[in-house]
Amino acid sequence: MSRYAEVYKGWRADPEGFWGKAAKEIDWYKPWDKVFDENAGVYGRWFTGAQCNTAYNCLDRHVAGGRADQLALIYDSPVTDQVKTYTYAELTEEVAVFAAVLHDLGVVRGERVIIYLPMIPEAAIAMLACARIGAVHSVVFGGFAANELATRIDDAQPKVIVSASCGIEPGRIVKYKPLLDEAIELSSAKPANCVIYQRPMQEAAMVEGRDVDWRAAVEAARKAGQRADCAVLEATDPLYILYTSGTTGEPKGVVRDNGGHMVALKWTMKAIYDTEPGQVYWAASDVGWVVGHSYIVYGPLLQGCTTVLYEGKPVGTPDAGAFWRVIADHKVETLFTAPTAFRAIKKEDPEGKLIGDYDLSHFRTLYLAGERADPDTLQWAEDKLGVPVIDHWWQTETAWAIAANPVGLGRLPVVHGSPAVAMPGYEIHVLDDAGHEVPVGQTGAIVIKLPLPPGCLPTLWQKDERFKESYLSEFPGFYETSDAGFVDKNGYIYVMSRTDDIINVAGHRLSTGGMEEVLAAHPDVAECAVIGIADKLKGQLPVGLLVLNAGVERDPAAIEKEAVLLVREKIGPVAAFKLAFIIKRLPKTRSGKVLRGTMRKIADGEDWKLPATIDDPVVLDEITDVLKARGIIG
Ligand code: COA
Ligand code: AMP
Repeated sequence: MSRYAEVYKGWRADPEGFWGKAAKEIDWYKPWDKVFDENAGVYGRWFTGAQCNTAYNCLDRHVAGGRADQLALIYDSPVTDQVKTYTYAELTEEVAVFAAVLHDLGVVRGERVIIYLPMIPEAAIAMLACARIGAVHSVVFGGFAANELATRIDDAQPKVIVSASCGIEPGRIVKYKPLLDEAIELSSAKPANCVIYQRPMQEAAMVEGRDVDWRAAVEAARKAGQRADCAVLEATDPLYILYTSGTTGEPKGVVRDNGGHMVALKWTMKAIYDTEPGQVYWAASDVGWVVGHSYIVYGPLLQGCTTVLYEGKPVGTPDAGAFWRVIADHKVETLFTAPTAFRAIKKEDPEGKLIGDYDLSHFRTLYLAGERADPDTLQWAEDKLGVPVIDHWWQTETAWAIAANPVGLGRLPVVHGSPAVAMPGYEIHVLDDAGHEVPVGQTGAIVIKLPLPPGCLPTLWQKDERFKESYLSEFPGFYETSDAGFVDKNGYIYVMSRTDDIINVAGHRLSTGGMEEVLAAHPDVAECAVIGIADKLKGQLPVGLLVLNAGVERDPAAIEKEAVLLVREKIGPVAAFKLAFIIKRLPKTRSGKVLRGTMRKIADGEDWKLPATIDDPVVLDEITDVLKARGIIG
């Protein structure tokens, strides 16, 4: 029997009692005045008056509590052919020394540090070092280009940027340093220093007076016996900013606090992931995404687990058995990844033959999130692995699952296509455009009744008004998830699509509006639209439809190629933008609104209705012809 219903009811009856009890699992320097202060912040703040330190709870606490010699982190890197491990004592030492380096560079509490690193242990060390001294980290995913990094530098205004000479993608070395230098050139806020981790595959040229060599600085600090202490921080102080795609090219700086975040993540480790201290937990994601923040670094370490930091892919490093090899080598009990990784494995090894080559006897549960888990992939994973496959739904904004099947409370029946039920802390409603509750089973906007639970964003970095406008204004009293879907009679939630222009490419959240801004800047482009079309591997793929300026006579193929390059150059390879087609006109309503939804339905071969407000229906035939000619529709 699952205890879920009883636990959820307990939270509904007494939210403050629920979270106050969960907070006992965290070490505080000073307890809270209020579990929830409804008068603080935009919609209230959690654990006001309390003092704490996230790095202390992730590291020092476990060293003091008997886990000094237990592995805290396993770095497994098939792309560099190495495995490196850190015990809790070793990781604490590395973090304290690097925190002292940051301190020496003048980074003080509240100051921002941008971390632009590949999947190497130094990424986790840098994050925890910031947490230790109360600096606010902002990790930027390595697949973003200089321009995206520059936008984040301008918004966060970091004192220091921590980066590396290169990242390694299968078959190519990604030189991070030139991207970093270009980003700093482009941005108006200049960091005082950059700490650069030199990797032997591609060493970077250093800028004199600004760039600091990671190894040299750490060795000097170590020799001098420098170790930074854990700063005493307010629970409401920011731990990090993580930028995520919004509806425009300007990303949203999601803020995370220290206290509520720890309480929520610690609670999830047992209740949702059924993971005890000492067990090996692996989130196959990247520290550049929220999954990496919550479940490569903070969650497992708060719980005293061993976390795996994997620098590789599900396929091609070297084959579709890569995940099984890591699970077997490190005795992983829990794996968390995006469905796209499983689609990639299934494509390469449809029979799952490679699974049999490894000892997966420790493996207990697979968790999927980041995009809709298609029932085919779920079924394949269940059949081939013989373990429960748990879909759960969340967002960068929330830091942990809004809906899940809480295995630690007793697993509920798994229903393919649904990430199961609302977690304690989240009261879910489904509303129509007018803000009225829709009947059970009917699709609408999925919203969360305020206040959001601990761990969720209190605001956007220095932009309370944008926070209110983006999330709280459409449905007063509720947080708008921008996901649409429905709830069935058993309370199971179905998340079907976004209500905004965000698309999900290989589990990565991207703004089509941001891509349109880039394409519109091409000198030959008069107007454009980017739509996300269904893709068997990546879930969705962006397609750019371009209308050229009158009189442009250049080779259309050359312009399309330039458009593709432009998005790669301005947003980055992560956009996976490879399809740009020139069309004569864009379909619009009589009031000039581009009919992106209709174009997407045509491209995906779905049924579509001619919008009553369309200006000129012939345009849709023109688009259909282009999509047919380009092989997008059969
Ligand atoms: N630094 C630089 N470039 C990067 C990068 C990084 N950290 N990560 C990805 N890229 C590049 C890739 O090399 C690729 O470039 P290409 O166009 O030259 O081939 C491009 O960005 C697109 O990457 P991706 O969408 O990841 O596609 P892929 O073909 O490399 O791999 C999968 C496909 C399915 C294997 C991959 O997406 C994957 O492992 N996903 C796991 C899910 C995941 O991490 N989700 C995050 C949220 S949980
Ligand atoms: P991100 O902020 O990058 O984590 O992306 C969050 C978005 O990904 C959500 O708003 C959803 O649109 C989508 N998403 C994440 N997890 C799921 C899931 N389990 N099912 C359906 N969609 C999901």
